Amino acid sequence: MHTEQLVSTFVEYFEERGHQRIVGSTLLPPPGDPVLFTTSGMHPLTPYLEGRPHPLGKRLVNVQRCLRTTDLDEIGDATHLTVFEMLGTWSLGDYGGPLSLDWGYGLLTEGLGIDRGLLHATVYAGDSQCEQDVASLELWQDRGVPVELTVEDNWWSNGAVGPCGPDSEIFLWSGDGPPRSTPTQDDRWVEVWNHVMMKYRRLDDGSLVPLPQRNVDTGLGLERLASLLQGASSVFDCDLFEPWRRLVPPLWRLDEPSLRLVCDHLRSAVVVLGDGVRPANTGRGYVLRRLVRRALTVLWREDPSYSLDDLPGDLVQHTLDHFRQDVRPADVRHVLLDEERRFRRLMERGRQVLARPRFRDRLTEEDFHYLHDTHGLPRELITTLRQG
Ligand code: SER
Repeated sequence: MHTEQLVSTFVEYFEERGHQRIVGSTLLPPPGDPVLFTTSGMHPLTPYLEGRPHPLGKRLVNVQRCLRTTDLDEIGDATHLTVFEMLGTWSLGDYGGPLSLDWGYGLLTEGLGIDRGLLHATVYAGDSQCEQDVASLELWQDRGVPVELTVEDNWWSNGAVGPCGPDSEIFLWSGDGPPRSTPTQDDRWVEVWNHVMMKYRRLDDGSLVPLPQRNVDTGLGLERLASLLQGASSVFDCDLFEPWRRLVPPLWRLDEPSLRLVCDHLRSAVVVLGDGVRPANTGRGYVLRRLVRRALTVLWREDPSYSLDDLPGDLVQHTLDHFRQDVRPADVRHVLLDEERRFRRLMERGRQVLARPRFRDRLTEEDFHYLHDTHGLPRELITTLRQG
């Protein structure tokens, strides 16, 4: 099943159950949101989860692009991407968690034909602040799906403060043999869909207060589910990455982990640029800068002559088209090349400075401050140069 088909199956299934499709937002969350980038489909909906009536009603469905830097060190494994898409559904003070889970179960098993024996669920076990989610537990028990109870892994929050609540996650078995063990014990259980019973707000002092309405917020990782349905061994092997797999290896000789990182970071950088962010030393621009520079560091480790000048325009266009970003590919390439030039100059300067006798041995905190303040060399770059 192609990703596009998965999206339409999902959206139609929920439209048939009274949901209105809303257009996904950019990666930039609404003002006042505590995070730099949209990390989940719920960000653009925060005011509505907090009680403001949504113009399209109480049942919504969409596809939302998201960016997560918390997983940056996991990029290259089978399931993580920096920019990914989330299929989402919302009940804004309408139906409750059990119905949401039951629909989720119906879509996965009947709509998408997944063998019910390959599913596992997790449910919130309860603690001193919030009781166990018995309704979700009973739903899964009724459907004959095995359940694991956890506390931290089954609590979802949007940063330190804001809307939050217990969740129930649905895992799909990705191993070769029959399913074994439980999601927390065996990572061949891949989390695909999270259903959050979003009924609290966490305040600055850490306490929980009820939201004006009880919501359900769900998010399904599109590339993850697509790769599992396509029998692909990682998200980098699903149909969305086909042009990258075809066009990048003839350009740059990279081993598989490096290829995955370079494709992930460059594709993410294009999307971030497409949403109007420019490289900078702080905030969103710094995240973009890090993505481009990490990709270049990996490329130059293999061959210092590699350049983003060779990045095929088709890949930029394919990415902008996929994310429906109305930006000229030439502008994106221009920023990427400019950033490459700056980084190359900085690396050269860094090498010269670090060659000084004073910096040959272990660097002190004072050295790091001096190198940063006087020569503009960030700690990460210094570490990379000294490793090289
Ligand atoms: N907000 C939840 C998550 O990101 C469900 O969408 O997992």
